[in-house]
Amino acid sequence: MSAKTQRLDKFLTAATDLTRSLAKKALHRGEVTVNGVMVKDSGLQIHATDKVCWLDEPLELVGLRYLIMNKPLGYECSSKSSHNPLVTDLLGDLVNKDKIQPVGRLDVNTSGLLLLTDDGQWLHRIISPKYRKAKVYRATLAEPLVADAEARVTEGLQLDGDALPTLPAKLERLAPQLMHLTLTEGRYHQVRRMFAALGNHVDALHREAVGHLWLDEQQLAPGQWRELTSAEMDLIAAK
Ligand code: URA
Repeated sequence: MSAKTQRLDKFLTAATDLTRSLAKKALHRGEVTVNGVMVKDSGLQIHATDKVCWLDEPLELVGLRYLIMNKPLGYECSSKSSHNPLVTDLLGDLVNKDKIQPVGRLDVNTSGLLLLTDDGQWLHRIISPKYRKAKVYRATLAEPLVADAEARVTEGLQLDGDALPTLPAKLERLAPQLMHLTLTEGRYHQVRRMFAALGNHVDALHREAVGHLWLDEQQLAPGQWRELTSAEMDLIAAK
C-alpha cells in the first residue's frame, strides 16, 4: 500500500480553483483522466505516483509524496550544486519533482537512509530537535575509540564553535572502530564533529535508521528509492 492517498474530488479541489460540486461536474463531463484513463468516480483514491489531468493539463500533487532513498556517496542534499549531482537527480522524471526536498541533510560523503517529501510539516516534525526523532548512524573510525566515549556522549559534548553542548546521545561499539551513534538533533556535520571532539576521525559514515525505520539495504541498493508504505510512515512517527 502506498503512503498516503486522497479522494479524487478532494484532490481536484486542492489542485484547482474548482469547488467540490464543480469538481464532481468536471468528472461527470469526462474532463478528468488518471494515468491517461478517463475517470468519473469522485471517490477514487489517488496516490503519489498517479498522474491526474483536468482538460489535458497535468495537476500538481502537493503534500503527498513520502519517499525513502538509499543515498549513494557523491550526491548532495541541496537544491543547487556546482560540483556534485543532487539526490533529487536520482528521482528521474517523477511528476513535480522540484517540489520534493530531502528531509534534513546528509553530507556528500555520507550514505544511507534519506527521506524525501513535498510535505513541509512532516519534514519539520522529523528534523526539528523539538520532536527528538532518533537518527542512527554507523561510523567507521580511523582509530580505536577512547574508553570513556559512551559516558561523554551521554552527557553531551562541547563542539567547536557551538554555544551549547550536544543533547544526550547514545553510543554503541560494534567493533573497536565501528560505532552506532544515535542522535536526536541534526547539527552541521554533527557526527563527524562529535568523533573529532573525542579525538578521532570518521572515515566512513552511513545512516541506518530514522525513528524506528531501518534501511533494508538488500531491498534498496545505493541510488534506489521508492514510496514509503503506511506501515513505514507509522514506524517513523512512533515514539
Ligand atoms: N553528521 C555528519 O557529520 N554528517 C552527516 O551526513 C550526518 C550527520
